[in-house]
Amino acid sequence: MAEFKVDFHTVDVAIVGAGGAGLAAAVQTGLARLKTAVITEIFPTRSHTVSAQGGINAALANMDEDYWVWHFYDTVKGSDWLGDQDAIEDFTKKAPGLVYELEHWGIPFSRIENGKIYQRSFGGSMRNFGEDIAHRTCAIADRSGHAILHALFERTLREDVAPYVSYYNEFFALQLLKNEETGRVIGVLAWDMINGGFHIFFAKATIFATGGNGRMFRTSTNNHLNTGDGWTMALRAGIPVEDPEFIQFHPTGIYAIGNLITEGVRGEGGYLINSEGERFMKKYAPRVLDLASRDVVSRSMTIEVREGRGVGPKKDHLLLKLDHLGHDYIMDKLPGIWELAYKFTGIDCTKEPIPVEPTMHYHMGGIPTNRFGEVVLGSMDKPETPVPGFYAAGECATPSVHGSNRLGANSLLDLVWSGKEAGISAAKWIIEKNVDVTYPGEEYLAEKYAKKGMDRVRRLFESEGTEKMIDIWDELKDSMSTNMFVFRNGEGMKKQMEILKGLRERFKKVKLEDKSMTFNLDLIEILELESLIDNSIVETAAALAREESRGAHSREDYPERDDENWLKHSLVYMDEEGNTKLDYKPVRMQPLTLPSIPPKKRVY
Ligand code: FUM
Repeated sequence: MAEFKVDFHTVDVAIVGAGGAGLAAAVQTGLARLKTAVITEIFPTRSHTVSAQGGINAALANMDEDYWVWHFYDTVKGSDWLGDQDAIEDFTKKAPGLVYELEHWGIPFSRIENGKIYQRSFGGSMRNFGEDIAHRTCAIADRSGHAILHALFERTLREDVAPYVSYYNEFFALQLLKNEETGRVIGVLAWDMINGGFHIFFAKATIFATGGNGRMFRTSTNNHLNTGDGWTMALRAGIPVEDPEFIQFHPTGIYAIGNLITEGVRGEGGYLINSEGERFMKKYAPRVLDLASRDVVSRSMTIEVREGRGVGPKKDHLLLKLDHLGHDYIMDKLPGIWELAYKFTGIDCTKEPIPVEPTMHYHMGGIPTNRFGEVVLGSMDKPETPVPGFYAAGECATPSVHGSNRLGANSLLDLVWSGKEAGISAAKWIIEKNVDVTYPGEEYLAEKYAKKGMDRVRRLFESEGTEKMIDIWDELKDSMSTNMFVFRNGEGMKKQMEILKGLRERFKKVKLEDKSMTFNLDLIEILELESLIDNSIVETAAALAREESRGAHSREDYPERDDENWLKHSLVYMDEEGNTKLDYKPVRMQPLTLPSIPPKKRVY
């Protein structure tokens, strides 16, 4: 087989991913003076967090009365009761402190007249346990993720953190390294994208912050490198993905392209209209209209199109109207939206509405963690136990604060909260348990622990396959966008599973056209495609099994929520051949200090 150079590193903590969650974790491990390697496919400030627009939720009560308990309630309700209430309590209670911490790290929040942080309305965020619309989303105009990502990166460059944190930019993670005899995670194998060659990072603790995976759909708000490699690495190490069937479709992606048009537009007073000029959300969410939660708005839009009230030559999308807000207001609060709409559609949104459609945006599920960021294994009758040495945070993980549907602006909060928790937990574990990491005999160990990941690359360099990566990817996108979209049904998902199995077979014959070592993006995209196929299989398997509709999982053949049988988390395992095994675990209905909120019908 083709041979490549292998470099070895021994660190305290290996963090994979340098978006908001990875950086929030690195701040903590750096503050704990632990030697930290941040391994990232892309320069940190270009990570996908940069694209988040609308803001970060925290009950600061700067614009009207608000309490974290109301935020807690909305998040449980938004999750359609699949969220773990202990984690949600911790998440919403800590939100104001986390926002002030970011403010003190230099974030240029938009301000109101008294100098306090500006907060806008967002979908599903309500006052007084669902009574009326809240202003809870702390915003930096419509470039909130950009500002937060830069502030976190800059925080890692300060003198109390910087000496302990090294960045390995443009390194692609290939395999989670696990000692099968002890069950302990011992680091990660990566590919050096700039020069070619393997790098093995042996680590006392490994934190995955690998982000999302939206690129199996035709349109997505996601960055092109959001391909779910973290999920696949976990699956290959015998760790399941929790609740992968819950895929969020953002109501306002730019038509046919998918770029995000923030929910903040509707928070500022913009609204959706159909071909008759009708503000159709009044039929579906009479109280809060366009500020219902995302699953509700995306379904309503899909119904409008299906019933023939879409716009454009194909009558397949809708319009987002905001010109009535006025030029100056738009340029103050939504300048990025103006620019995006203009550059990608040629439309001046101060004068004309923006063409939009529901677009893949976010995965509620992920690598199962508890609220401390520890990766956990469990089932209906086995209490959760941590996988020693393994932590996860941000979109790739789920401590289940979003359940089956995430509220807008809870994701920036999730990544600063869960990243910080994972960093603290990893540091505590290493320091309190005095964890050791000595690995003599490097060559022997590389073959022992990292062979599978290295073989994936070696095989591709040697293969004389006949299949084109792009053809497989196109079919993946088309079929997932048909069978696993806003509405699903058993027949479509069964068909999808067959298509995915076929794509997995075809992938075995994929041809690596470029055999060079320097910045070989053909290699990286083929590896990413492999991840996306496996991610799609676990999503479809869980969705097909869940015979109910809940949150973002909406089945035409099972239109009702079924708490008796399905108030539980899905866990999907996958073996080397791509076969899936399903298991389940209970939802934690008991908060830490508050009374539990029992399930009820979710209306907006
Ligand atoms: O619409 C938005 O600005 C997206 C925010 C989010 O997904 O949290």
